[in-house]
Amino acid sequence: MVTGGAIGTGRATAIALAERGAQVVVADVDEAGGRETVERAGPERCRFVATDLTDAEQTADLIETSRPDLLINNAGGGGHLPPHFPEASAAEWERLLTLNLIGPMRATQHALTGMRAEGGVVVNIASTAGLGLGPHPSPEYSAAKAGLIRFTATLADVAPARVACLVPDWVATERVSPAERATDPPPIPLSDFTAAVLRLIEDDALAGRVMLLPQGSPPRLLS
Ligand SMILES: NC(=O)c1ccc[n+]([C@@H]2O[C@H](COP(=O)([O-])OP(=O)(O)OC[C@H]3O[C@@H](n4cnc5c(N)ncnc54)[C@H](O)[C@@H]3O)[C@@H](O)[C@H]2O)c1
Repeated sequence: MVTGGAIGTGRATAIALAERGAQVVVADVDEAGGRETVERAGPERCRFVATDLTDAEQTADLIETSRPDLLINNAGGGGHLPPHFPEASAAEWERLLTLNLIGPMRATQHALTGMRAEGGVVVNIASTAGLGLGPHPSPEYSAAKAGLIRFTATLADVAPARVACLVPDWVATERVSPAERATDPPPIPLSDFTAAVLRLIEDDALAGRVMLLPQGSPPRLLS
């Protein structure tokens, strides 16, 4: 299962998993984008379930109906869109926290119910916005991603399940312009993003581990 798979890193991950023979469920609020992902991944390998991952009940229904053995908590973002804390209203910044932290925690909790009996892997998609101790334009996005990194590392011992975290810098999704792609270092190619996700899925030694994916240099483990 790939959340937020209607575009961007989520779509690329859904396609990469389908290419490797997985049966993929894409969960997203964007129905048109979700259906396009299904077309690109191949309808025989991929289906779309309209889901708002900020809604606790919809998240529970999604996971309990599909019972994934692989969950990519990718739905998130919004850190570049003002207003930010403290100008943002409490409802606005709380929604961002829910999307980027509470939602993945809810989905992980439901998924682990089955995975702790039968095995499975959760990969949380954080961001370099969650690293370090400096200022950031979106405190709520940074705090949520920092929380997601720490949340993952606390779950190093849920065998036979595994929970791991990818911490990407700027990724060259569809939204990135040709001029932006020419910056130095360039944004991370989508193929490098999906390769890192696949490594976290496949490597049994990476339970609870946090992998940094920087621009212009290879991925490295932070924990
Ligand atoms: N693109 C980057 O440079 C970058 C860098 C670091 C981390 N990330 C993280 O990677 C993930 C994906 O980023 P992206 O750039 O592909 O984002 P994006 O905005 O292109 O795509 C996000 C997807 O999530 C979906 N979504 C948003 N709210 C949702 C909700 N409530 N319920 C279900 N789906 C919802 C959107 O419809 C969209 O399909 C995010 O968690 C983001 O924080 C991205």
